[in-house]
Amino acid sequence: VRVAVLAGGPSAEHEVSLQSAQAVLDALPRDLYEPVAVIIDRQGRWPVELRRDLADVVFPALHGPFGEDGVVQGHLETLGIPYVGCGVTASAVAMDKVAMRRAFLAEDIPLTPHVWFTEHEWRTTTDHWGLVKSLDWPMYVKPASMGSSIGISRVTSMEELRAGVELALSYDRVVVVEQGVAARELVCGVLGGYDTPDASVPGELIVPGDWLDYEAKYLSPAEIAAIPAVLPERVAEDVRELALRAYRAIGGYGLSRVDFLYEEDTGRLYVLEINAMPGFTARSVYARAWAASGVPYPDLLRRLIDLAFA
Ligand code: DAL
Ligand code: MG
Repeated sequence: VRVAVLAGGPSAEHEVSLQSAQAVLDALPRDLYEPVAVIIDRQGRWPVELRRDLADVVFPALHGPFGEDGVVQGHLETLGIPYVGCGVTASAVAMDKVAMRRAFLAEDIPLTPHVWFTEHEWRTTTDHWGLVKSLDWPMYVKPASMGSSIGISRVTSMEELRAGVELALSYDRVVVVEQGVAARELVCGVLGGYDTPDASVPGELIVPGDWLDYEAKYLSPAEIAAIPAVLPERVAEDVRELALRAYRAIGGYGLSRVDFLYEEDTGRLYVLEINAMPGFTARSVYARAWAASGVPYPDLLRRLIDLAFA
């Protein structure tokens, strides 16, 4: 079976994708699969044109807009090539923090207080405070579509908020502002088809300082996660159940990683977001959560490719 692994792409998560793709290429069991690397450059150009006679299945190890938001998935649909992971709609909903929240709210999935507005709304009002006044400081300002903490700011004043919104608007015309919650950050991997997916053991992110920015996620040598998370059994069960509900809420298929906030004093869990193509090296929290759940990385690849053909 020839597996084309898509790598790179024009999003700001190009580098992260190269790491995910390399890990997949290295680990694909050679007795079953013939890997084919397909690099997409930062301008979105494909050095080899993907065609049905080049690959039996595609692993889009791409993160962020273009590769994780349904665009490439739609392209693969038109080519008629099976691919790993979420389809067009789930990918699009998971990449867009506004669409994702609407899907979650419709399913009563608990979320932290937040607001969102468009660039037009921001630029045509003089009352910026009015847009966020339902929230308390600190706030997190995020472009609606992006990953790996790119374009995100933690802000504690109107001045910082304005700078954060400008940064977020350099990535997307829609901005989400979330209220910060003092909480532990948990993750849970989901694996499987639409109807009876499985949830991994939860992991906990080790947050240096206030929050996990791009540098802490990818550039610092510090350990970023404890897997499995040390949690009361009931909380771990709730995390897994909520992860499956979040996955079904977007129509997830193949895989996703669901990120949580756990407010220890109140026992409240909030879903922060779902990621249709989480960072996918063998050291990534998604793969480690599955390894801790009895699915080592090469088996994970095999299950995902089987699901692409199912
Ligand atoms: N967006 C990065 C790759 C993640 O969610 O892991
Ligand atoms: Mg994300």
